[in-house]
Amino acid sequence: MNHILKCHEIIGINFVRGKNCYLYDDQGRRYTDLESGIWSTVLGHNHPRINRVMKSQIDKVIHLGTRYPNSLSEEAAREVLDIVGIDHGKCVFLSSGSEAVEFGTQIARRVTGNRKFLTFSNSYLAAYGSAGKKSTDEWCLIDWTDDDSTDDDNRLKGIPFKDLGGFVFEPGGSGSGFVKFPPKRLVQDIVYKIRQEGGLVIANEVTAGMGRTGKWFGFQHYDIQPDIISLGKGLGNGYPVSAIVMNIGIAENLEKNEFHYAQSHQNDPLGCTVAKEVITILREEHLIQKGNHTGESFLEELKHLQEKYDVVKEARGRGMLLALELRPHDKISATSVYQALLEKGFLVGYYPAGNILRFDPALTIEEANISSLIDCLDLIFKTALSKV
Ligand SMILES: Cc1ncc(COP(=O)(O)O)c(C=O)c1O
Repeated sequence: MNHILKCHEIIGINFVRGKNCYLYDDQGRRYTDLESGIWSTVLGHNHPRINRVMKSQIDKVIHLGTRYPNSLSEEAAREVLDIVGIDHGKCVFLSSGSEAVEFGTQIARRVTGNRKFLTFSNSYLAAYGSAGKKSTDEWCLIDWTDDDSTDDDNRLKGIPFKDLGGFVFEPGGSGSGFVKFPPKRLVQDIVYKIRQEGGLVIANEVTAGMGRTGKWFGFQHYDIQPDIISLGKGLGNGYPVSAIVMNIGIAENLEKNEFHYAQSHQNDPLGCTVAKEVITILREEHLIQKGNHTGESFLEELKHLQEKYDVVKEARGRGMLLALELRPHDKISATSVYQALLEKGFLVGYYPAGNILRFDPALTIEEANISSLIDCLDLIFKTALSKV
């Protein structure tokens, strides 16, 4: 790779083909993908139904321009509104998760007239923009992992709720790969206080959404209904389409006040076709229930590893967002396990700073793939720890 800028780690494997949870390199070697690209292929790679609708749409029209959302955008919007549980809201389709989160905060700022928003300090929101920077002149940050206090009043003391436009909540627990889920009570208390002061609740469902946590959306574990929801990744199953969903009050406010936003690929028919089909497949094939079930047994297997090896500090997760956190050890680390797994043909996520391995496979993964991974992890731990 001489002409691809190295602005992130690059692993030199030339993947040329995928099928469900497998990726194949140019030598025909098979790898099991337990990261779903990057939390994206909820239905697995190369899904025949997605391919079919894409090929059919490519033969019609793929791009129309911002003035011409068509019946496909309208149909996709109806489906998205249905799954997020907003009856008469409106949507905008864009291309990436970062755009969807940044757009969500922009419209919340516009509607509330307030620049400052609250979010958890370890939540990842976007690659750029205000949501990417989270500078303290625009963001009030809470670290809920900083102590063992379960006293929310104490934790929320000093938060200037009346000066905030809202709360941007990332319910995937995966900010920077930690896979730690904020406590329900704390989130509900924040939502209550934000709403009391007229603020908005924005859910960043880019990673958590589309069934990854065992429900359609991560916010559904908290019994809250956000005003604005940002979707990405799984919505396109690897194709770059994202969406911002808002309730009707916000939509009417923006339209009445002639809010203007235009991007080249806004509401493009190809992305909308893919999003609509992803939703249909998740529904028809009951994949969220299947993924949740597989995720539960996967977590149990990871917990067995925790019982067996002291180096495993914690096995944790929700649905198909799972992690193993390791203790510092001279013979083993998340990086060394990642490399050993790669050599054995498994792709997982890892976060060296937290000594964390992440497992985020497609909801369609088979139990047999998980058993093979667990056997491989077991062998890696046993071999590394037995070395003198
Ligand atoms: C929680 C979360 N929000 C937003 C984003 C940004 O999405 P994208 O990389 O598609 O711009 C990511 C990307 O990893 C994410 O994990």
